Amino acid sequence: MHRHLKLGIFGFGIVGQGLYRVLEETRGIKAEILKICVKDKNKKRSLPAKYFTFEKEDILENPDVDVVLELIDDPEAAFEIVKTAMQKGKAVVTANKKMVADHMIELYEMQNDYNVPLLYEGACCASIPIIRNLEEYYDNDLLSAVEGIFNGSTNYILTKVFSEQKSIPEALAEAQNLGYAETDPSLDIEGFDAKYKLCIILTHAFGLFVDPSDITNIGMHKISDFDIKIARERGFKIKLVAKSRKIDDKVAAFVIPQFVSENSELYKVEREFNAVIVEGAFSEHQFFIGKGAGGYPTGSAVLSDISALTYNYKYEYKKIQQANDLNISSNIELSIYLRFNNSTSIDKKLFNSILEEYKALENQYIIGKINFGKLIESRWADDPEINIILLENNETEN
Ligand code: HSE
Repeated sequence: MHRHLKLGIFGFGIVGQGLYRVLEETRGIKAEILKICVKDKNKKRSLPAKYFTFEKEDILENPDVDVVLELIDDPEAAFEIVKTAMQKGKAVVTANKKMVADHMIELYEMQNDYNVPLLYEGACCASIPIIRNLEEYYDNDLLSAVEGIFNGSTNYILTKVFSEQKSIPEALAEAQNLGYAETDPSLDIEGFDAKYKLCIILTHAFGLFVDPSDITNIGMHKISDFDIKIARERGFKIKLVAKSRKIDDKVAAFVIPQFVSENSELYKVEREFNAVIVEGAFSEHQFFIGKGAGGYPTGSAVLSDISALTYNYKYEYKKIQQANDLNISSNIELSIYLRFNNSTSIDKKLFNSILEEYKALENQYIIGKINFGKLIESRWADDPEINIILLENNETEN
């Protein structure tokens, strides 16, 4: 028997408005919005004033509200809302990836302590139903890798850079206008947003709780015209990828820009689309593609979570029980392209082997194999004059 749900919404930005429209147009879900809590009293709203409140208690203390939709920007304020809502016995749906990634353990425990569901499909790759699939479809598969393009804005930017010769700042401004980028777009271009999504996926794919600060994110903000020229000459595009791969009892996980050839499924993933590749012992290779940013794609994921709550669905986190002694490791050998200028000194001894070296007046690069742990230690990723790009299909255990 499907329940009729009464919703209280926090936030009415891109995702909140997208959700409102999809809720309005869908016929199947028995749910009504009681109140929407917003911050800005002066902003003109597209709905009648009776829907809105500026007091969080109007939702959190309202016994009629049984589902709280947390769709605000600020991750710490979002966590407080989610915590209070769960303590009050309300089910919660959120699309806040940073909040979920930063507080995964507490959120997991609160679901048990208060016996209420918390769903967050919209937090990972928007319209791609990856969390539910990891939970339900791959629950007993022995997964070896989950990776792909987890950020819509950077994929949009890189598409425009490669196919329309736009500059990164110009393409970023477009992504912002289209409502894909974070309020602070450095979260997108420096790879943080993709990392938060990867952390959430690590819990559902491998049963790992990880602190986002323990996962390395190398962004795409340092890609130069020279790097783009090198990619073009070799028939590559560059994509910002998030990777997690299990090797024995360890999982290597990171975010990094990667050269992608025409043979890769990721080559044709363009604009705000995301893609997730899942590799399992039984299901083998699977490829998901869908819009990863924007009001409707994210709203559709939130809608799907609301729908799941009508039949009392909750995540079971089955992989946590199966994880045993699995943990994160940086002991993996990667083939990378390292571009730097003539005033930068690079300790070549950090490479296990060098396959190619190039030196001209302004730019130099090395293509070589390096242990990921050494790459982290080198701190090259923090140097504004150095850019790192992963080569395709070149990861082996050290
Ligand atoms: N800024 C995010 C992105 C929004 O571009 O993917 C969706 O999470």
